Formats: sequence, structure tokens, C-alpha cells
Amino acid sequence: MDSLSNAFPTHDPEWVQDMHANHYLQSWSRQGTRPRVIAGAQGSWFWDTDGRRYLDFQSQLVNANLGHQHPKIVQAIKDQADKLCYIGPAMGSGVRSELAALMNEITPGDICSTFFTTGGAAANELAIRLAKHYTGRPKIIARYRSYHGATGSTLSVTGDPRHHLTRGDMPGVVRMLDPYPYRMSTGHTDPADCPVCQGGPHLEEILMYENPATVAAVILEPVVGTNGIIVPPDGYLTSIRETCEKYGILLIADEVMAGFGRTGAWFAMDHWGVVPDILTGAKGINSGYVPLGTMSVSKVLADWLRDYSLPGGLTYAGHPLACASGVAAIRTMQEEGTLAHATRMGTVMRANLRAMADRHPSIGEVRGKGMFNGIELVKNRATREPLVPFAAKGAAAKPMTEMMDFAMDAGLYLSFFSNVIRLTPPLNISEQDLMTGLEILDLTLEIADRETGQNRSGKD
Ligand SMILES: Cc1ncc(COP(=O)(O)O)c(C=O)c1O
Repeated sequence: MDSLSNAFPTHDPEWVQDMHANHYLQSWSRQGTRPRVIAGAQGSWFWDTDGRRYLDFQSQLVNANLGHQHPKIVQAIKDQADKLCYIGPAMGSGVRSELAALMNEITPGDICSTFFTTGGAAANELAIRLAKHYTGRPKIIARYRSYHGATGSTLSVTGDPRHHLTRGDMPGVVRMLDPYPYRMSTGHTDPADCPVCQGGPHLEEILMYENPATVAAVILEPVVGTNGIIVPPDGYLTSIRETCEKYGILLIADEVMAGFGRTGAWFAMDHWGVVPDILTGAKGINSGYVPLGTMSVSKVLADWLRDYSLPGGLTYAGHPLACASGVAAIRTMQEEGTLAHATRMGTVMRANLRAMADRHPSIGEVRGKGMFNGIELVKNRATREPLVPFAAKGAAAKPMTEMMDFAMDAGLYLSFFSNVIRLTPPLNISEQDLMTGLEILDLTLEIADRETGQNRSGKD
């Protein structure tokens, strides 16, 4: 036998499943699962070894923004591999400088310098540490309906139930409530009356208890992703920004999921013209073809870093293959008018979903921006009782998991969190594919309608 790996039957789906179940550890899961084995992918579609095709309405982990195997990104990686696969982060590199220059071009306001990481968590981890170093303060304010990553600090600031896995968050994490117009924590019905939806008033109250001089940063997802695609009311981010400025607190915008065109703008913050002090990204920057994340800072911080060291580093910071894929993806989005297309497809999607709501009593709310959309499902539209409880798992989540399975069997890949189905196809999906996906979703929602005790037309 020449080599052990040559002896492995990687073409045999059963063997792949066996190894997956027995020797591979899968994220956030009980182990031992035998997944569908994927043979290939192209554009908005992927297919398994049985030849079944699936329309990717998730863009995998909301990262394949330009779909699968985009030829320009693939070519750029090949070209860079031929030229230079790796060079240390302190060396000059054409492709690394090119990506830094492009980031300077597309990030908002005076955001001007970027540290390149291997993903979103590493970007947020450094953002948190930099904020503490710069301000000399220990606390970070974060929201409940959030996900910021799986490292120590980022899982601590994460608000979704996975943060319990830290078995004690890092010291100094303070929570604030989420601006959630469909379910206001304060019981208000108009966001204009709700201090949480306004932003500043709620933050001010928390700062009164915490002492603003102890708070380094507020970290937030400008549009909440994993935790249910929640768009803040107009004015919210401006108000949070102004309150942060008043007390010398940095604002960290986690654009890992919302950034790089997902909402139809380069960054979600752009919709409200708000510039953070630190902006983090990953995922859509290169559609995930090579691990890559970003932590970009304002001119003030960049200048400060000329006198003080960056408090972090990575062997693979600014990896040439990752940078080449990032450059290719950003240039492709510019050349192909991807942001405008995403905006248009998003409008088409939401209009169709709203029309579907007339037929499906389980649809409580349709919301989103660009290609970052969700439908919130309810048992009763009048009371807004959620279809399943918050973060339901196992039997409690049954209608949701049943819908995921039904859709997958029908060729549509979807995802959900609690009672929200997330709809985040590639930004460059064709209108025809979009309509195909929505047709399958239409059928899928009949499972949710059953829980309402009403038929398809919404009558008892
Ligand atoms: C908003 C947000 N921040 C951070 C992360 C973590 O990114 P990564 O998994 O690349 O570490 C994610 C991942 O889903 C995310 O959605």
C-alpha cells in the first residue's frame, strides 16, 4: 500500500457517512449523525451522491453570497496558489494590500484599516480585546438575541442559549434588550414609544446602573441574523451610536452575517448611515471558499495603533489564498451589480411572502432587508403566540424540524431558529430559482398551518 489515504474509498457515500459518524466531530451537535453526502455544487444549487438536487436557500451558513463555485473566485484562488500560497503576516503581499485597499473603499465613513482573520469569531475576539485596551475599561454590553462566535469572549457576549456552554461567561458582560418591533419586551405596541426600540434611552438606563466609565464597548449585529433576522427600527442605531459617543464607549458592529451585500448594501449599517468604531466581517467577503474574516477600525483607532501594538495576531492573518478569494469576490460583486440584484430579489421575495401570508395563517410576520429575510410563525396571529417556544429543541421544535425535512426532501435547503424560518439564498440567485424555492416553501408552510387549527385560507 503506497499511502493509507489512497486506500480510502472516499467515493463511497456509506464509507463517508461511517467516517463522519465515527471520526469527525460536527459543530454544535450530538455526534454520530450520518448526513447526506454532497457530491458537488454550482450557483444556487448543490447535489448529493444519489443525484438529488437542492436549492440552497441558506447559502450554507449564510456565507455563499455569490453561490457555489463562482468561476472568478475559484480562478483567483488557483492563480494565487500558483504564485504564492503562504507568506507571514508581517511581509508585504500584493494581494493582501489589494484586499486592505478594497476594504478601505467599501467600509463606511472613516473606517480605514483592517486586520484579516480566519473567520468571524476571531474578528470579534480581537475587536473586544482592542476595545478594552483602547478604553482601559473592562465591560462589554451585548444583546440577548445575538450570536458573535464560539471562542471564549465571543461566546460570552453571544446572547443565544449557546452562551450557557461557556459555563460562566467572561467577567464584564452586560446584557441589553433587543429592539424587536414584533415582540417588544416592554409590552409597547408602537416602537416609537418603546425605550428599547429607540435604543438610547434603554442603553442610558443600563449605563446608569453599570457606570459608563467601566464600559469599553457595545457590540451588536445591526440586523440580527442567526437569532431570527430582526431589523431594528429606523433611528435605533443612530441613537445607540450617539449614546456611545456621549460616554466614550466604542461601538462594534458585527457584520459577519449582515455584511458584504447580504442586506443589499455593502454593510447593514449603511442603510442608516451609522459608522461604528470597529466593524467585523467574514462569511460573504469571499463566499466562504477559504476561511477569512475582517476586523476594521476607524481612523482614530488606526492612528492609536501606530503608537500601541495590536493586541492580537494569527499565523494565518492575511492568508494569501483567502485574500485572493476576497479580492475576487468583492470585484465580482462590483462588476456584476450584485448589491442591486440582491435588493431587487429581496423585494420580490418579501412581496411573494406577504402574498403567501394571505393563504397561510401561521405567518405572523415577514421581515428582512435585501436577501436577509425571515418569516416568523405563530399559532395565532391575533395573540402572536409563537409556533414553538423560544430556542425549542427536540419534540418541542417538531413542526419546525418537520418543515425543514419536508423542504429538503422536496429539494429546498432551509434553516430556522425558534419560530423563525430564515431565507437567505445567494445574492445572485436567478428570479426563476427564487420562485422555485418559494413554491416549495408555500407547500412546506402547510405543516405550520396545521398548528394554528385553521385551514389554508385562514378560516376556522
Ligand atoms: C453575526 C455573527 N458573528 C460572528 C459569527 C462567527 O463567525 P465564525 O463562525 O466564522 O467564527 C457568526 C457566525 O455565524 C455570526 O453570524
